[in-house]
Amino acid sequence: MKVLVTGGAGFVGSFLCEDLRRAGHEVRIFDNYEPQVHAGSQSNIGALLKPDGTPLKGVEIVYGDVRSPTQLDSALKGVDAVVHLAAQVGVGQSMYEIHRYVDHNTVGTAVLLELLASRRHAVKKLVVASSMSIYGEGGARCADCGIITPSLRSGAQMKRGEWEVTCPACGKTATPVATNEEKPVLPTSIYAITKRDQEEMCLVVGRAYDIPTVALRFFNIYGPRQSLGNPYTGVAAIFSSRLLNNNAPVIFEDGDQTRDFVHVSDIVQALSLALVKDEANGQVFNVGAGIPISIKEVATTLSRKMRRDIAPQIENKFREGDIRHCYADIGKIRRYLGYKPKVAFEDGVSDLIAWVEEQKAEDRFEQAAAELAKRGLAR
Ligand code: UD1
Repeated sequence: MKVLVTGGAGFVGSFLCEDLRRAGHEVRIFDNYEPQVHAGSQSNIGALLKPDGTPLKGVEIVYGDVRSPTQLDSALKGVDAVVHLAAQVGVGQSMYEIHRYVDHNTVGTAVLLELLASRRHAVKKLVVASSMSIYGEGGARCADCGIITPSLRSGAQMKRGEWEVTCPACGKTATPVATNEEKPVLPTSIYAITKRDQEEMCLVVGRAYDIPTVALRFFNIYGPRQSLGNPYTGVAAIFSSRLLNNNAPVIFEDGDQTRDFVHVSDIVQALSLALVKDEANGQVFNVGAGIPISIKEVATTLSRKMRRDIAPQIENKFREGDIRHCYADIGKIRRYLGYKPKVAFEDGVSDLIAWVEEQKAEDRFEQAAAELAKRGLAR
C-alpha cells in the first residue's frame, strides 16, 4: 500500500518510513522541517535517499504544512493509508505558545479530517499519534481507598517539596500502578489538550465516514534521531545533550519521578501493527515498555554509559504541569495486536548514545529553563 506519513522526516516518522519500505510499502513523507526540531541536526531520512540526494524508489518527499488544505489535499492523492505524526512537541512551551500548539496540532488535524470528510480519496486507514500526557497523573492506589484518580499536585504542595501524589479522599501517599486505557483522561497542559483533541477528532470522524482509525498513546519515546536541539522535550535527549557538552543534567523535583521509556523501534512496531491489523480499528492503545524508570536513573545510566563523570544536579524545583508517575499497562495492545516491546532500556540507551556521540548537540537547556522560569512555569 501507499502510506502518507505526516511528520515523516521526524524522529519517529523517519524510522517508520524505513520500516514500511522494508515491508514493501510505498511512502509519501509530508513534513515542514520545523526548525526547533530539525535545526542543526543531520537529516533523518538519509537512508531513504540515493547518493545523489534523490529519493529511493517507492519514496516521495513533499514539503508541506498540515495547516495548509492545498498542500495536504495534493499529498492525499492516491494514498491508501495515513499516519498522522506531525505535531508541535513541547509540554512547557505549549503553556505559552498556546496559539501555535493549537494551530499546528488541533487545527492541522481538523484540516486533514475535513479533507478526508469532503474530498474523494482512497484512504482505508488512519493512525494518529496520541500521547500518555492526556492521562495527567498515571494510575495510582491508596492503601486504604483502593484505585484512585489523582488530580495534578497543587502549587502549594509542590512549594513544600512534597512531590508524591496523595489520595484525594484521605490524603495518604499513593502508590503508582500501571495506567490502562480505561483511566479517565485529565490533560494538564495545552500540548496534552491538543493530543486529546487529535485522538478524539480522528476517532469521531473516522467512525462517521467509515475510515478505520486507530489512536496510539505513546509513552516517553527515546532513541537515535530524537532532536537534541529541542530543549523542551525528551528528557533522555536533553540529558545526553547536556552530558555531551560536559554539563550536568538538571533534574526537576527529586529525581524519583518515573516514566515509561519506550524505544523508537518499539513505537514503529506498534505503528506498523496498527496499520495492517483490522483488530486495531476504532481503538485506542497505550504504547510503552510497561516498566517505570526514575529520572535519576536516566541521568546516572547516561553519564555512566557516556563515561562522563558528571553527577546530575538535583534542584528540587518543578515544572508547571509535570506529573509524578506514569507507566503503561500494555495488556490491550499485546492482546489485540501482538505487540511486544523488544528493546530493554539499558540496550536502548546504548543505541541512543552511539548516535549522540556522532552529533554536535547544541545544548539549549539553559535558554529554555530561563524562558520557563521567566513565565513562572519552572520554580
Ligand atoms: C511529555 C508528555 C508526553 C509527551 C512528551 C513529548 C506529559 C505527562 N508527558 O513527557 O506525553 O509525549 O512530553 O513532548 O505531559 N526532566 C528533568 N530535567 C530535564 C527535563 C525533564 O528533570 O531537563 C523531568 C521532568 O520534570 C519530568 C521528566 O523528566 O518529570 C520527563 O520529562 P519529559 O521528557 O519532558 O517528558 P514528559 O513531560 O514526561
